[in-house]
Amino acid sequence: KILILDFGSQYTQLIARRIREIGVYSEIFSCDCDADEIKRFAPKGIILSGGPETVTIDDTPRAPQYVFEAGVPVLGICYGLQTMTEQLGGKVESSHHREFGYAQIRARGHSQLLFDIEDHVSPEGYGLLDVWMSHGDRVTELPEGFKRIASSDGAPIAGIANEEKHFYGLQFHPEVTHTKQGGRILSRFVLEICGCEALWTADNIIEDSIRAVRAKVGSDQVILGLSGGVDSSVVAALLHKAIGGQLTCVFVDTGLLRLNEGDQVMAMFAEHMGIKVIRVDAEARYMAALNGVADPERKRKIIGGLFVEIFDEEAARLTDAKWLAQGTIYPDVIESAGAKSGKAHLIKSHHNVGGLPENMTLKLVEPLRELFKDEVRKLGLELGLPADMIHRHPFPGPGLGVRILGEVKKDYADLLRRADAIFIEELYRHDLYSKVSQAFAVFLPVKSVGVMGDGRRYDYVIALRAVETIDFMTARWAHLPYEFLDLVSRRIINEVPGISRVTYDISGKPPATIEWE
Ligand code: XMP
Repeated sequence: KILILDFGSQYTQLIARRIREIGVYSEIFSCDCDADEIKRFAPKGIILSGGPETVTIDDTPRAPQYVFEAGVPVLGICYGLQTMTEQLGGKVESSHHREFGYAQIRARGHSQLLFDIEDHVSPEGYGLLDVWMSHGDRVTELPEGFKRIASSDGAPIAGIANEEKHFYGLQFHPEVTHTKQGGRILSRFVLEICGCEALWTADNIIEDSIRAVRAKVGSDQVILGLSGGVDSSVVAALLHKAIGGQLTCVFVDTGLLRLNEGDQVMAMFAEHMGIKVIRVDAEARYMAALNGVADPERKRKIIGGLFVEIFDEEAARLTDAKWLAQGTIYPDVIESAGAKSGKAHLIKSHHNVGGLPENMTLKLVEPLRELFKDEVRKLGLELGLPADMIHRHPFPGPGLGVRILGEVKKDYADLLRRADAIFIEELYRHDLYSKVSQAFAVFLPVKSVGVMGDGRRYDYVIALRAVETIDFMTARWAHLPYEFLDLVSRRIINEVPGISRVTYDISGKPPATIEWE
C-alpha cells in the first residue's frame, strides 16, 4: 500500500484515485502526521502531494523527516518536489515565470521513473511529455545525490531523481488526465519502483467482500441503518448475501423523505429481498423537535441528533447485535483524512450513524470502505438492486428539512413532496433525469399572488433546482428546455393546491450552493 501525504493540493484525492485504478490501496494522511503513524501504516512507498504554499518561507508545511528515513521510495509532486528538495539540502526559489496549464517537458531517458515514457521525441532525441503544470516556485539547485531527469522552459529542473534511494520529484502533475502519460508514470512508481502488486480487480470485489464479512462477524448479529441511499442499500444487499438472517436493518422514516419513499424501501428490502427491516415511523417526533426552528444548521443538528437517538433505541432492543454496519465508502475515508474543511466528513458522519455515543459497544463493519462510488454502483447492480435505485441522485441526510426554507411543518413537507415528485417524474419521462446530476424542488414559505378563475389567491412558491456536476464541489445549473420547465410548472400549479408560482434556479456553484440551506 501507498501513503499519500497531503499538503493541501486540490488534486490530492486524484492521486489516490489513480493509484486505486492501478489496483493498489492507498490512504491520504495529513502532512503534519508523525513518524509513528507512518510506521503503523507501513507503506511500500510515499507520495508527497502538491500544495498551495511556498517552501521559500520557513513556517510552511514540511514532510516529517522520517519520510526520507523510512527506507521506501518517495515521489514528490509539485510542492512535494519542492519540499523534498529543500529538506534534503537543495534550493527552491520563487520565480516570476509562473506556469499554469499545459506545458511540454523534455525528459531524459535515463531515470527509472521516466524511462521509455514519452509523447513525442525531440530532434535531439529527448523524450517529450505533454504535462499539466501549476506552480510559481521552482527548483534551482539539486540536493546532493540527485540528478535532473526533466526540464521545461518554465522549470529548468522539472524532475529530479536519486536512484539509489529511489527518491523522485516531478514539478508537473502526473495525476491529472491532461498529463497524458501520467497514469504510466504513477504506475511505474507504484508497481515497479515501490513493488506493490495490483491485486484489486473489479471482478473479485463481491466474492472478496463476502468472504471478508463472514470472517469478520462470524455468527454474530449485525445491525445497519438503512436510508434507501445507494451506499447503505448496497451494504444491506451485500450483508444479506453474506450473512442472511444475521442482519437487521433499521429504517427511520423522518417525515422528511421523498414521496412514498418509506413504502418503496420496505417493498424493496423487506418484501422483495426478504431482509429484516424495522421501520420506525418518526414523523411526529421530527415535526415536534423541529417546531419553531428556522436556522439551517440547528435544523441539521436536530435531525441528525434525533436519528442517532432513535437508532440507538432500536439498537438497544436488539440485545444480541454485536456489529454496526456502515456504508462508508473510500472517498469518505480519504476525504476525512485529507479534507481540511471537514465538510465531506460531516456529511457522511451524519448520514451513517457516525455520531453514535462514544461508549458504544458495537464493533464496526464497513464492507465498502475500499470502494469508489462507481464500484459501489457496479456491485449494487450485480447484487440485483434495481438500476433506478443505484443511479438515483444524491439526497441529503437532513432530507426535506433543508429544502423547506426556515421552519419545517408537515403541511409544507407534504406540498414539497408532491411538487418534487412531479418534477422528477417528468425528468424521467423526458429522458433528462440521468443527464442532470441532481434535481429537486425547494419550498419557499412566502405567499405570492395568483389568479384562479375569477379569484385572487395567495399561495406558496416552489423553486426548481437542477445542476450538472462531476464532483458536487462546483456545479452549473442545468439548461433544461423551456418547454419542459413550462410543463413542470403547469403541472405543479394545477395539481398541488397551495402552490401558486414556480421558479427555476439559475445560480451556479460557486457562488450559490446546490442546496438552498
Ligand atoms: P451544497 O449545498 O453544499 O451540496 O452545494 C453539495 C452536495 O451535498 C449535499 N448536501 C448534504 N448532504 N447532509 C448531506 O448528507 C447535508 O447536510 C447536506 N448538505 C448538502 C447536497 O445535496 C449536494 O449533493
